[in-house]
Amino acid sequence: MSALIVVGTQWGDEGKGKVIDFLSEQADMVVRHQGGNNAGHTVVANGKEFKLHLIPSGVLYPNTECVIANGVVVDPVVLLKEIEYLHGQGVRTSRVRISSQAHVIMPYHIRLDGLSEDRLGSQKLGTTRRGIGPAYMDKAARVGIRIGDLLDRERFKERLTRVLEEKNRLLARAYDADGFGFEDVYGQYLGYGELMAPYVANTSVLVNAAIDGGKKVLFEGAQGTMLDIDHGTYPFVTSSHPVAGGACIGAGVGPTKITQVYGVVKAYTSRVGDGPFPTELADTVGEKIREQGHEYGTTTGRPRRVGWLDAVVLRHAARVNGLTGLAVTRLDVLDALSEIQIAKAYRYHGQEINELPDSIEDLAEVEPIYETLPGWQTPIGECRRLEDLPTPARRYLDRISDLVQVPLALVSVGRERTNTVSWAPLF
Ligand code: IMP
Ligand code: MG
Repeated sequence: MSALIVVGTQWGDEGKGKVIDFLSEQADMVVRHQGGNNAGHTVVANGKEFKLHLIPSGVLYPNTECVIANGVVVDPVVLLKEIEYLHGQGVRTSRVRISSQAHVIMPYHIRLDGLSEDRLGSQKLGTTRRGIGPAYMDKAARVGIRIGDLLDRERFKERLTRVLEEKNRLLARAYDADGFGFEDVYGQYLGYGELMAPYVANTSVLVNAAIDGGKKVLFEGAQGTMLDIDHGTYPFVTSSHPVAGGACIGAGVGPTKITQVYGVVKAYTSRVGDGPFPTELADTVGEKIREQGHEYGTTTGRPRRVGWLDAVVLRHAARVNGLTGLAVTRLDVLDALSEIQIAKAYRYHGQEINELPDSIEDLAEVEPIYETLPGWQTPIGECRRLEDLPTPARRYLDRISDLVQVPLALVSVGRERTNTVSWAPLF
């Protein structure tokens, strides 16, 4: 039995796509369990770049089963486009399965996401405007449409009639915006249902059968711990659970089945969207890292905010996820720097604190306490073993592991699958 959860420890975009792609080679099944097409993974396989938003990147391996589980919110337009895109690249999708219980992102969700952000103005959350929040709102409000509903004409008609009436009233009265015609949405989404039907399954049954059958199952987290609706920088968070526990709920798997939890740690920090970010760099070093790391959103193209590594954030992630290993990524982005800083604690109202404050108002007031380490100033992309890395790079890695009290599991030193330093079986 082997079930490995991979989560982001920061604000997303830690390089999970690369780590998951690397681990997928050993996996029999890869499972997405939360979020939706707000996520964007860039994977480079055999010199070719793939950008995926919904389908696990495991699809690029010929024998890996890929599951989009119940906790995901699925925009059928995006999913079908992604399937078509993969087919165009010669990638088969016959091993993709979608939960009948996953909620559907409907067109009114997307419109409401944008309208609500516009109305918030300078208070906006900086969402991806993909309808993620409104879709999860409807799930919690128990008025969501699920994938299975699209496969049943009568059931879908009944549910859509009720919810659309309500949404149109909301759009008109609260936002002075256009609503949606029932026949248009009904016909269109029934059509999507037909196209998705061959992929639809009870995925909790499939995932548990794989684990119980001794297969290697990889749970692919989207976003990151600091964007978790409970454990992140609320309200500047996404509406799902990127933490490890989210994998259990989002895939219908018990916690006793999970064997490992790896936290993906980018060698520096980035954040796209608004909200406090203690180690943010608003200077030329930040710019240098942004350019070197191509820190622009995969989903929205927005420039990402960049800063030093924050061990307070990482310790928080280690605790709420129960991390058993760290996968440090993008270490090569720091190749040119002569000095690197890590925030080991915060100063808050004159006192040194080691834990993340529990409100963003307090987080906005902390001042990072930095420790400075020497850079290595040499390219490390070709390193494959820990011994190959220059001493300052190893010191930096060891210091991260020390500050977080979680052992290193692997290190990524470049975009390609092969640009990876690994030394022990990971699954
Ligand atoms: P939403 O998920 O679109 O509602 O956006 C809520 C917050 O999460 C915003 O700050 C987004 O920028 C952020 N976010 C959502 N998905 C990702 C992701 O995959 N990577 C990084 N940030 C994300
Ligand atoms: Mg991303």
